[in-house]
Amino acid sequence: MTMLTQTPYKVRFEKHLQAIQTFLEEILVVQEPEPLWQAMRHGVLNGGKRIRPVLLTETCLANGGTFENALGTAGALELIHCYSLIHDDLPCMDNDDLRRGQPTVHKAFSEDLAVLAGDALVGMAFGLIVDKTHGVPDKTLLRVISELSLAASVRGLVNGQVDDTLSAQAQPSEALLYRIHKGKTAALFRFSTWAGGMLAGQSQEVVDLLGQYGEHLGIAFQIVDDLLDVESSSETLGKTPGKDAAQGKITFPAVYGIEGSRKVLKEYIVQLNGILDRLAPHMETQNLRYLVQFVEERKS
Ligand code: IPE
Ligand code: IPE
Ligand code: MG
Ligand code: MG
Ligand code: MG
Repeated sequence: MTMLTQTPYKVRFEKHLQAIQTFLEEILVVQEPEPLWQAMRHGVLNGGKRIRPVLLTETCLANGGTFENALGTAGALELIHCYSLIHDDLPCMDNDDLRRGQPTVHKAFSEDLAVLAGDALVGMAFGLIVDKTHGVPDKTLLRVISELSLAASVRGLVNGQVDDTLSAQAQPSEALLYRIHKGKTAALFRFSTWAGGMLAGQSQEVVDLLGQYGEHLGIAFQIVDDLLDVESSSETLGKTPGKDAAQGKITFPAVYGIEGSRKVLKEYIVQLNGILDRLAPHMETQNLRYLVQFVEERKS
């Protein structure tokens, strides 16, 4: 199979990435108090693959929506993701010094500013959806906001992070593994594709299928994250590898081993293509297929 880097999709992906980066730069212009904004900028603007906003944007476009329909929510989603990384790296959580090849926010600034920069980003995100979305009915926006508030908290990310944290050193089990990964990672992925369909005005049936695609992709993404933690280097990864085993985390390799994890990943890729086959009568699926390939092939 042709690697994604050799396909025309690479160019399109980079274009989306640039648009999202420009948008994030614009909304994070330094204000008072300066240390807060500098810490926020460090946590958001220093690299990052931007896979969640790209997914949201691509899903919106593939369903007949526009860039302007997607951008506010795509930016909000990335702010929430970046806040979750800043807090995930704190000494009281994963205690990481390196993120995206740079010192983590609490290392570059201080722990208090890392907590507060995260708080500010998550709060700011919701206003951004309201202020920066164009051409979407208010009723749809309210549903998007409500869904994101749950995915980012008690029906998703925070639940997953709590399970991840409290189960460190616990006996690995499949049930716990899926609960953690569905929460901490797949909930925001599910939101990204669900929201892409919603913002484009798609039917509920298609939007729900898109949500399934996002959730499966999120699990696949976290399987790769767990594998890279075992197999990669800090130069390639931009994070310190080997942390999961050192901290006794419940990961795919901990439950299935390396080869077993790769097998589960392959099963997810097959399922993802199946979901896209079901979506194909309703929308153009090629770019979402490229994004599956991106997740499977990523090295950082
Ligand atoms: C890291 O997410 C946290 C996980 C859910 C695995 P990403 O791998 O998307 O991090 P960035 O944004 O590209 O740095
Ligand atoms: C990611 O889990 C969960 C988040 C919501 C940030 P990890 O703890 O595995 O993420 P990395 O490996 O530090 O990026
Ligand atoms: Mg973690
Ligand atoms: Mg971590
Ligand atoms: Mg990890």
